Amino acid sequence: MQKTRLYLHEVATRDGFQNEGVFIPTDEKVALIDALSDCGYAKIEATSFTSPRAIPALRDAEEVMHRIVRKPGVEYTVLVPNVRGAERALSCGVDEINLVMSVSETHNRANLRMTRDASFEQLKAVADSVKGSELAINVSLSTVFGCPMEGDIEADDVLSWVDRYARLDVRGITLCDTTGMAYPSQVEALLKDVKTRFPSLMLTAHFHNTRGLGLANVLAAINAGIDRFDASLGGLGGCPYAPGASGNICTEELVHMLELMGYDTGVSLQHCLACSAELPRLVGHDIPSQILKAGPRLALHPAPDYVRDLEKPQVR
Ligand code: COA
Ligand code: ZN
Repeated sequence: MQKTRLYLHEVATRDGFQNEGVFIPTDEKVALIDALSDCGYAKIEATSFTSPRAIPALRDAEEVMHRIVRKPGVEYTVLVPNVRGAERALSCGVDEINLVMSVSETHNRANLRMTRDASFEQLKAVADSVKGSELAINVSLSTVFGCPMEGDIEADDVLSWVDRYARLDVRGITLCDTTGMAYPSQVEALLKDVKTRFPSLMLTAHFHNTRGLGLANVLAAINAGIDRFDASLGGLGGCPYAPGASGNICTEELVHMLELMGYDTGVSLQHCLACSAELPRLVGHDIPSQILKAGPRLALHPAPDYVRDLEKPQVR
């Protein structure tokens, strides 16, 4: 029987690195993205074209985009919050612009320093300006499953923002759980609703593991018919302007689980683990990845000596 195909997007060098205190040297970013290009991802979110004052860790976005070696078959996308960011991204010939705004007014103001309506005007201008070109537009909607300052967001509010962007003919929408507030029954219901109402949109789910529900939410999203997932190598990640934010779902944990369950992700767990093993050195601290610590499920251990000795006849 043919395996069900799922599409994985690596976001460690964007969502992951934006939240690190140290500036990871451009050479290291380029080397990591080049290594990630061989892992089998459908998409790599390489960096963001945000204000260098807001996100100093990614101030080298142009240089990164110009120096990476782009592998055919992998899409290279970048996060963009405004028209200025889109101009910078266009100058680097990206495959996709991933526009960002929050469905929570408070988080949008905290993160992007403008109202949601002002964000929409900026993002609409970008979408309108590239219409008819090869460039794909995705929109990442933050705090869809809850805002750390406002609490629950009404499903109707989420649907109406999706609708506003669908009318701009964007290719896709990513529904983001910015601070790990999503839970499986909520995920399944909301994503089923979005998928039913907008069948032609390319939908992606973006979960953070802040409360340990990340992979459970992935399974709920698969039940809702979602086949694209953002994940971050090592489980790095988080929005510096969302209180309490922490790492994304961890790519190698996701690949490990999906592989065991018989899904085809296209991603090599072995390659991911080799890349992930470099991260503690790059970021200067331990990383959340459980698989890096424990190894895959069948990475067996030798039995202790007393187990073998028990087989000998016991003389008392
Ligand atoms: N790239 C580079 N510089 C930018 C920029 C961009 N995309 N957008 C604005 N700037 C510069 C302006 O040119 C201006 O520079 P100057 O002071 O030298 O003249 C300065 O930043 C302020 O511009 P302004 O439009 O007033 O921006 P702001 O300070 O209100 O910030 C954002 C708005 C959206 C640019 C900023 O909040 C941001 O980049 N946020 C991203 C947050 C993020 O990535 N969070 C995590 C991901 S969810
Ligand atoms: Zn995120």
